[in-house]
Amino acid sequence: MSHYLKPNVQIEPLVNQWHAHLFLIAPQAAALFTQAQLGILKSYLQMPMAHAAALRDPTKVGGPFIDLKGERLAEVRALKADTERRSEALLGLADAIKELFGLLGQHAHGQPLAALYAQIPEALKGLVELSYDLRHKPGFRFFEPLLYGEPLQDASRQSVALTHIEGDHRPFIFSTPRLPGPDVVHLPLRFDSPRLDDLCRLRRQPAPLGEILERFEVPQSERETFTSFLWQRPPRRPPAHDGDGLRMRYFGHACVLFESAGVSILIDPLISYGYPSPVERFTFEDLPPFIDYVLITHAHHDHLVLESLLQLRERIGTLVVPRAGQGLLQDPSLKLALQRIGFPRVVEIDDMESLSLPDGFVQAIPFLGEHCDLSIRAKAAYLLRMAGQTVVVLADSSSLSPEVYERVRREAGKADLMLLGLEPIGAPMSWAYGPLFPEKLNRALDQQRRSNGADSASALRLAEIFQCKRVFLYAMGLEPWLGYLMALHPEHQSQSAREVEAFTSACSQRGVAVELLRAKKEIVFPSAFDAKHESLISHGRCP
Ligand SMILES: [Fe+2]
Ligand SMILES: [Fe+2]
Repeated sequence: MSHYLKPNVQIEPLVNQWHAHLFLIAPQAAALFTQAQLGILKSYLQMPMAHAAALRDPTKVGGPFIDLKGERLAEVRALKADTERRSEALLGLADAIKELFGLLGQHAHGQPLAALYAQIPEALKGLVELSYDLRHKPGFRFFEPLLYGEPLQDASRQSVALTHIEGDHRPFIFSTPRLPGPDVVHLPLRFDSPRLDDLCRLRRQPAPLGEILERFEVPQSERETFTSFLWQRPPRRPPAHDGDGLRMRYFGHACVLFESAGVSILIDPLISYGYPSPVERFTFEDLPPFIDYVLITHAHHDHLVLESLLQLRERIGTLVVPRAGQGLLQDPSLKLALQRIGFPRVVEIDDMESLSLPDGFVQAIPFLGEHCDLSIRAKAAYLLRMAGQTVVVLADSSSLSPEVYERVRREAGKADLMLLGLEPIGAPMSWAYGPLFPEKLNRALDQQRRSNGADSASALRLAEIFQCKRVFLYAMGLEPWLGYLMALHPEHQSQSAREVEAFTSACSQRGVAVELLRAKKEIVFPSAFDAKHESLISHGRCP
């Protein structure tokens, strides 16, 4: 009897039992993030009830508080000890990075740097180059490929946790580690293991039960739970898009699938599991069995989502990522990190570079803003030309300098369709980058330097520049299943709603159609765009 993996089985990749993201993979960032996680564990062990009390305030969800109701101290203590033991080299690297910042601050004032190499902390020797910028401000860059491998990238810290997901509520994941439980099976699979692909392939290709249990070395004590993740029902196999036009399928947040008869492109994969819900959505079952290209816009945890990406790895042709800078701490190479966790074909793309498609091209264009004014290059918006349509996919970009996009338009041309998120007030700088700073962030600065995206005026400018006749607002965390990633506060949501309203009304005066995407949407744009003949199939609850 052959068995499939059920559509509501969550496969969560973990590092040291914390939800995996880029900054836990790239060793230079993982060093500092692991140190910060140990700080949270330590604080919980000292004041468990203070964490529980803080989380009763909804505005504190997303802060450094462990959501275990003040309980499970023995397990948290064991995790802390285990993390310290397994991450000894990484923690040494974290201390060395902080020491190097101090060394440069104290001794690098424009004079030659050669003498400082001897004073580079031992854990960083051979891994960095020191330099000045043109105003003689000192800094350093990592030789990133040399960071990977033992002992800094110890894959024994990686595992996956399997559990059923029954509804849209999923606890916020970035401040609470995953502890063992009766409903969870932890498999000690490295992310680069072909067995992880085999596991994910079970969603579509069945295998005999005995073979599965053996292949994944499921211990006897967990076999009953693991077997509950399997059934004999084949998945839905929705028909492929084989028409002339361009089909757009919105999977929620920033995840959009574009398909022409010849090619499929999935952007920022963040795929919902399949379980009964009043809110209809596309799930893993609605993706094609093979995806020609996956494009990543930037490394924020709601766009570069390892949980979804790893589950799709076995069906991705080429993974396209923006090129990172030059080994800066805050800007790790996405290509390197993804290759080192087992993605076989990762291609970097830089501003204005293109990839040819059978019926068009993909062009990376500048992505301004939303990164707290930090020097981060690994971000790209995309211009897609497919099936006679031109789509500009801007993710969380902002028109900080409209002149940039005017130049892009002059070079790349106008667009029929635009996708953009409105995020007038983003998270404070510490939210995504806090552990990387050598000194505690000044609170006022932290509040000012936020990851703000576009407001309505900025979005309008972008629509005008690209001369779009139709705009889709997306990537705004509106889907009810995203609480585990986003922790959006009501104030943030009402601000976004006001901007949506302002943008929609400004566009309607200019004859530009605006639609706010939420949950699920499918549209087929005819190859020669003609609104009258457009086939429109609307799902979900778009206003
Ligand atoms: Fe972002
Ligand atoms: Fe985002």
